[in-house]
Amino acid sequence: MSKPNNLESLWMPFTPNKTFKKDPRIIVKAKDMHFTSDDNRQILDGTAGLWCVNAGHGRKKIQEAVTQQIEELDYSPPFQFGHPKQFELANRLAEIFPEGMNHVFFSNSGSEAVDSALKIALAYQRARGHSSKTRLIGRERGYHGVGFGGISVGGMVKNRMYFGSMLSGVDHLRHTHNPSVNAFSQGQPEHGAELADDLERLVQLHDASTIAAVIVEPIAGSTGVLPPPQGYLKRLREICTKHDILLIFDEVISAFGRLGKATGSDYFGVTPDIITCAKGLTNATIPMGATIVQDYIYESMLENADAPIELFHGYTYSGHPVACAAALATLDIYKEEGLFEHAGEQAPKIEKAAHSLKGTKHVIDIRNLGVIAAL
Ligand SMILES: Cc1ncc(COP(=O)(O)O)c(C=O)c1O
Repeated sequence: MSKPNNLESLWMPFTPNKTFKKDPRIIVKAKDMHFTSDDNRQILDGTAGLWCVNAGHGRKKIQEAVTQQIEELDYSPPFQFGHPKQFELANRLAEIFPEGMNHVFFSNSGSEAVDSALKIALAYQRARGHSSKTRLIGRERGYHGVGFGGISVGGMVKNRMYFGSMLSGVDHLRHTHNPSVNAFSQGQPEHGAELADDLERLVQLHDASTIAAVIVEPIAGSTGVLPPPQGYLKRLREICTKHDILLIFDEVISAFGRLGKATGSDYFGVTPDIITCAKGLTNATIPMGATIVQDYIYESMLENADAPIELFHGYTYSGHPVACAAALATLDIYKEEGLFEHAGEQAPKIEKAAHSLKGTKHVIDIRNLGVIAAL
């Protein structure tokens, strides 16, 4: 593939454009675990792209499924029409997501899956007659994509500070990062379960009758890999249940094998009310996001909504047939090749290798869980 001769017109996302364009890094091919650069170097894709190519690059089965789908049905409108593969995919996801989570709303990215989850939480509280429950609680250092909902509940300063006042009625739990007691923990750190009690502080401040939902990443990725302290997620679940607050797990990076299970919820043994996912859902071949909800949320919406359309929300490309075909082929690969289990088997090796760097100059902490590790 030839080099592009003019880099000027493209405004690159989350990239220092000026610096990049002086010394561009161009990828032209990918196969298995490697990229090929435009100067023909092989580059190990150690992060699976942006934590999304969970089954490796260039998977034939996905390519064939996508090609066949484009030939058969390239697009059909998701509002008021259905096509078989979106129902099939929803059923397949219901099989591998935690028990009781049998209803799936499709979108096109993690950011959209998050915004969909936040909107579903608000609409559900209203439908069940708790319309004062409108507050959303996120967590410091959380990343939930770049929609206005996601940055409002997110806790990354630069992602928020340029964009005005964002959503109102949002508050944040304290983050769980505490290297003074947890540095070099292998797997989940020992200290910090009590940080979940921070939700009690926010309940004291706002009253539970005003809080719709809490959203956290079960393992935070974007601010430097923060595995949850032992017992933290269970405690957060208990406090949410006690105060009738929905718990949303943003599993955009933790779903589809990253912790050796289909979901982080499964790995941690803690079931939320809503899960968001994207990335590994299609092995990143075609953009797709999904928001999976507990049966009681879907059923209550259908029963109590005050209009025939129960949820006034959706995207032109919700459940896009080509994305569904890619996702179904991806789920087949995960199953046939036992990739979730395989990731679980690799986890101790990755832990050992990562922690062997303890003592190296400038390394002040090493954190890991599943097939994730950070220095
Ligand atoms: C936890 C989490 N949520 C949401 C997102 C946003 O996903 P997307 O970039 O597909 O919008 C990401 C992306 O890294 C993520 O890690």
